[in-house]
Amino acid sequence: MLRGPVGKMLSRLAIITSRIMGPDDANIVGNVHGGTILKMIEDAGCIIGTRHCNTQTGDRCVAALARVERTDFLYPMFIGEVAHVSAEITYTSKHSVEVQVNVLSENILTGAKKVTNKATLWYVPLSLRNVDKIIEVPPIEYTSTESEELGKKRYEAQKLERMETKERNGEVITPVSFPERHTKEPYTVGFSQSSLIHLIGPSDCTLHGFVHGGVTMKLMDEVAGIVAARHCKTNIVTASVDAINFHRKIKKGCVITISGRMTFTSNKSMEIEVFVDADSLLETDKGKYRAVTAFFTYISLDKENKPLPVPPLKVGI
Ligand code: COA
Repeated sequence: MLRGPVGKMLSRLAIITSRIMGPDDANIVGNVHGGTILKMIEDAGCIIGTRHCNTQTGDRCVAALARVERTDFLYPMFIGEVAHVSAEITYTSKHSVEVQVNVLSENILTGAKKVTNKATLWYVPLSLRNVDKIIEVPPIEYTSTESEELGKKRYEAQKLERMETKERNGEVITPVSFPERHTKEPYTVGFSQSSLIHLIGPSDCTLHGFVHGGVTMKLMDEVAGIVAARHCKTNIVTASVDAINFHRKIKKGCVITISGRMTFTSNKSMEIEVFVDADSLLETDKGKYRAVTAFFTYISLDKENKPLPVPPLKVGI
C-alpha cells in the first residue's frame, strides 16, 4: 500500500471487491440488474467510508449513505461475468466523505474487460452510540492541491443542488395514488405504475439497525424495472439513475412502500419516478414519511441487446 509524505497510510486508497454474477443477480434473460450493481457499489462505499471515519479515536461510527450522484450504466453485465468493484475516497469535508466507485466487468472465458459504471457517493458518519450524532471526518491527504480544489468544487456543487431540490425530496409527502391498474388503458401512467411493500429486517441493516442505502436502491430499481416492463413488455435494463439524496433514516422494523410511475418516454427511453415511504409499525407517533425519491431511466432491448423504440406514454391516468 502507498504511504503519504510522512509515512502515514493514505486511508483514501482503494478497496477492491470481486464477485461472480449468478442467476439471483440477473433478470430472466441474464442481464445483471442495475439494482444489484448499485448495491455492490454502495457496499464498497460503505466499507471504505466506515473504515476511514474510524481511523481516529473517539466514538465508533458507521458511514451512512447521504447521496449518490447521477450514475450511468455504460455496458450491460451478464451472468457468469465477474464484477470488480473498486472504491476510493476522493474528498472529505468536515462531516462528509466523497467516495468514487468504479465497476469493471470481466469475462473470465475470454479475458474481455469493460468499465460498466462510475459512481460518486457521499457518506456521513453517524455515531454507533447515538445515531443522531454526526461525527467529524478525519481529513485525507490529497495527491495535489488541484485534486483538493476539484473535490471542494464538487462538494459545493452538490450542496447547492441539494438546497434546490429539498422541496422535491423533503418532508412533505406528495401522495402517490394507485387506482386499480386493470381499469387503466395500456401505455398510460396508471397502467404501468407499480408498488412493492417490504419489511426492513436485520439483514437489510447496518450495525446501527438502520437500512443500508444499497438495499433501498436495489428495491427502487426493482420497482422501476417492473414499471418499465409493464409499459413496453420487452427486456428492459437500467440506463441511468439521477442524483439521489437520502434524507431520512429507515429503522429496522419499518415497513417501506416503494412506488414507481412513468413520468416521460422519449423515442428509446423511459423515465420512472420512484418514491420510498417509510412507516414504523412500532413507533406509530412518527407517522409515515418520505425517505427517498429518485428518477431512473430504462431502455428496452431486443434479442441482440439493441435498444428498441418505446411506446409513447399516453396522456391520462
Ligand atoms: N448529500 C451529501 N452530504 C450531505 C447530505 C446529502 N444528501 N445531507 C447532509 N450532508 C452532509 C452535509 O454537507 C454536512 O457535512 P459538512 O458539515 O461537512 O458540510 C453533514 O452532512 C451534516 O449536515 P446536516 O445538515 O447537519 O445533517 P442533516 O441533519 O441533514 O443529516 C444525514 C444528514 C445524512 C445524517 C441525514 O440526512 C440522514 O440521516 N439521512 C439518511 C441516511 C441513511 O439512512 N442512509 C441510507 C438510507 S436508505
